[in-house]
Amino acid sequence: MPSVRFRLNGVETSVDADPDRPLLDILRGQLGMTGPHFGCGANECGACNVMIGDQAVASCDTPLWSVADKDITTIEGLGTSEHPHPLQTAFIAEQALQCGYCIPGILMSAAALLKKNPDPSDANVRAALDRNLCRCGSHNRIVKAVLRAAAEMAAR
Ligand code: FES
Ligand code: FES
Repeated sequence: MPSVRFRLNGVETSVDADPDRPLLDILRGQLGMTGPHFGCGANECGACNVMIGDQAVASCDTPLWSVADKDITTIEGLGTSEHPHPLQTAFIAEQALQCGYCIPGILMSAAALLKKNPDPSDANVRAALDRNLCRCGSHNRIVKAVLRAAAEMAAR
């Protein structure tokens, strides 16, 4: 089985697996990263989003071979309980989740947005999260939380 090497949450990682397998399978299976969730399996819901470089990407629709030598960040690499990312504290402050299933993917899309645009408008946030579905209907609180995180990061 060929070996594919990449950095996962800053750690050099090597995986022996069929290079055509979806990255999501590898993350949740062999690598034990259960933050990215399986929703649709067809690049339509965003539950599986991770960051590859600075881009939010659907890991269910990303073959393993394509991430060779790339930097991958999952929700496990965004923040910790002791040192949460400002997005994570803002989501709690705004109570921006209900069941939480969509949230890891939404946080990764939001983190990618704030890297590119630290001062987004409401419309910018809505556009960045356009492909992230939330079946609980938390969208408006989610947008407020992302704007709150941006403001808190700018004030630091
Ligand atoms: S599970 Fe990947 S986009 Fe829905
Ligand atoms: S909080 Fe339940 S799917 Fe978004």
